[in-house]
Amino acid sequence: MARYAQVQGSVALITLTNPPVNALSAAVRLGITEAVTRALRDPKVKSVVICGENGVFCGGADIREFAKPMTGPPLVPMISAIEEGDKPVVAAIEGVAFGGGLELALGCHYRIAHSKARVGLPEVTLGLLPAAGGTQRLPRLIGLAPALELITTGRHVTAQEALKLGIVDKVTDQSAQDLAIQFAQEVIGQPLLPRKLSTQLTPCPPDVDTILDEAMARVKQRARGAMAPVACVQAVRAAVNLPYQAGMQKEQELMAFLFRSSQARALQYCFFAQRAVGKWSLSSGAHSGNSKPRPVTKAAVIGLGTMGRGITVALVKAGLSVVAVETNKKQLEMGKQMVSAMLKHDAQKMNAVPRLDLLHYTTDLSELKNTDLIIEAVFEDMALKKEVFKKLSSVCKPDAVLCTNTSGLDVDELASVTKRPELVVGMHFFAPAHVMKLLEVVRGSRSSPEVMATAMHLGKRLGKVSVVVGNCSGFVGNRMLRPYLDQANFLLEEGATPELVDGALEEFGFPMGVFKVSDLSGLDVGWRIRKEAGLTGPNVDPKDPLRRRQGRRYSPLPDLVCEQGRLGQKSGRGWYLYDKPGGRVATPDPDIHKLLEDYRVRHGIRPRQIGSQEVLERCLFALINEGFRVLEDGMAMGPEGIDMIYVFGYGWPRHRGGPMFYAAMVGLPRVLERLEYYQQVHPDVPHLQPSSLLRRLVVNGSPPLDKWRDFLQRPHSQL
Ligand code: NAI
Repeated sequence: MARYAQVQGSVALITLTNPPVNALSAAVRLGITEAVTRALRDPKVKSVVICGENGVFCGGADIREFAKPMTGPPLVPMISAIEEGDKPVVAAIEGVAFGGGLELALGCHYRIAHSKARVGLPEVTLGLLPAAGGTQRLPRLIGLAPALELITTGRHVTAQEALKLGIVDKVTDQSAQDLAIQFAQEVIGQPLLPRKLSTQLTPCPPDVDTILDEAMARVKQRARGAMAPVACVQAVRAAVNLPYQAGMQKEQELMAFLFRSSQARALQYCFFAQRAVGKWSLSSGAHSGNSKPRPVTKAAVIGLGTMGRGITVALVKAGLSVVAVETNKKQLEMGKQMVSAMLKHDAQKMNAVPRLDLLHYTTDLSELKNTDLIIEAVFEDMALKKEVFKKLSSVCKPDAVLCTNTSGLDVDELASVTKRPELVVGMHFFAPAHVMKLLEVVRGSRSSPEVMATAMHLGKRLGKVSVVVGNCSGFVGNRMLRPYLDQANFLLEEGATPELVDGALEEFGFPMGVFKVSDLSGLDVGWRIRKEAGLTGPNVDPKDPLRRRQGRRYSPLPDLVCEQGRLGQKSGRGWYLYDKPGGRVATPDPDIHKLLEDYRVRHGIRPRQIGSQEVLERCLFALINEGFRVLEDGMAMGPEGIDMIYVFGYGWPRHRGGPMFYAAMVGLPRVLERLEYYQQVHPDVPHLQPSSLLRRLVVNGSPPLDKWRDFLQRPHSQL
């Protein structure tokens, strides 16, 4: 798995051969070790070049090997042998040098990169740290601050930036391998010691402690409980404070701790789950058929409100030409301005020209004759959407794909008013649509395989994590959110405060607690919906049957808050008090505490002390329970789909793997036992009733997540 050749008389050329990215598997490590030993021993060899085949240097460790017992030579002594040798070794970096690949290059004495190459140490994103000397050699090479930034974020850099930082010595537009071979001959006989990073001291600015302390504070604030970035700072601190060998020891200790952690398992699970959800394919049988995506070059967006604007920006950024239709002239003008501003802002950041030429605005639906795909984003109103879909079906070319961005309306009902229900699909974006990574692709009962593939492919072009979901109320993400929100409100009724609930959720790792998020999105949206459903009223008793409509018990508290003109950030007051209308700095509000106290007195509720464990169990386990129901109903491809929806759309901390992974980590028997307990205490809350799938899994010994599918009673997928 490493080829050996002697070129130009005295240069040994070692080529890593492990497609597709020459990952450092056991066989590759063995190959490199043998080849390096041979080159160092052969008196005819004066210098060495290490490169990778097929234009890729090395993508790093083979993650699949993490779960197995270690075989083959370890990386650290292999890289040390390269560095310690008395012959110059040059790394020829084409494609990528990531993780262990970059650490291998750092053990070489020189690094030559192709201009299109990228390098980086992404281990932190998998809950680990670069443990083959990366945390010790990189600071010695490029200095403390830049090394800290790269190692704690896992950011990749281009060859040009790598040259500026001093990670590589030369960049070429030609073959990096050819230049490296020529270079390897030129450096024969030059002193090697200064090129051996382990023998060097980390360059230390006078304010070294401040830099490290600030980095630690920054990382802790950003990490939301993730351990790996903190360990990265500790390892880099060792590169400053300790001699190389002791620093390596520290690096190994920290790695051993991280490697065994549940966070590393969660992050690695997310890595694979993200790939798996993108590879959606149709099962055979009823759903079989052509599932190749159709070409989409011209798209349209209907409705230039909050969502339509973001979707338009995302489409233009992906290079599609877009017709934006808006019937309200004022909205059209505002939409135009905002779309242009967002595109200009983005282009400026990328040093590019904004593609305003791809845009066309109109008030007239009949201008959509030539569009390949249309995304409807008008008000959430079934009658209006039906009217729009009817028109689209007569105006658009017969094979145009019709998508709706509804947050939860029935896609089949919409499809039924068109002449082409098989070409109708849900594309549920999340706000702001040009920023948020999640896209739920909703399969209606008649959506064709080809149309599903087209929506998935478009999602990919837009840079989204696209997850196929079934056509049920709220689809997957919002459906699971309902019990979570309900529990948060019930906790307030029983004695909690918004800051207590939010504090527990933020401590768990959400960027914002549920009440802060509600204030951010505006409390009036849900209020309007509840008013229309006849579910509000200041004197609704907690046990009032009115609040148990549609099989769900509602808390009137959010309505009471709205009735006081507290609509969230936009009005400067919501569940919290804000510095100003539109302000973002939330402080607990005594008026809200009073409102809660009055409510409890009015309804004879004796407030209890509520701890953060109860908050987490009630909110998260209720959400997870609904996740099991989603699986049971065949509305998600598997637990991985649900988890990616929560990680990319709802701020679930990635280092906890998503709700279903978290349930498996906590232990399904424990989740079941707590749900049973809370259900006894709150028998009138149906969503606390443990799902039958959860029960079945526990009875069957709580099998691992990838076996859950086997326990679905009706293994029918709606997808
Ligand atoms: P919005 O109220 O900001 O915008 C709707 C726009 O559609 C308005 O500008 C309105 O003038 C326009 N419109 C109405 N009838 C039209 C017609 N016949 N032809 C062309 N334009 C028309 O609404 P928002 O928030 O952008 O929501 C749009 C859709 O996206 C809804 O179905 C909503 O449920 C869904 N959605 C909203 C999310 C959010 O966070 N706001 C998230 C995900 C989905």
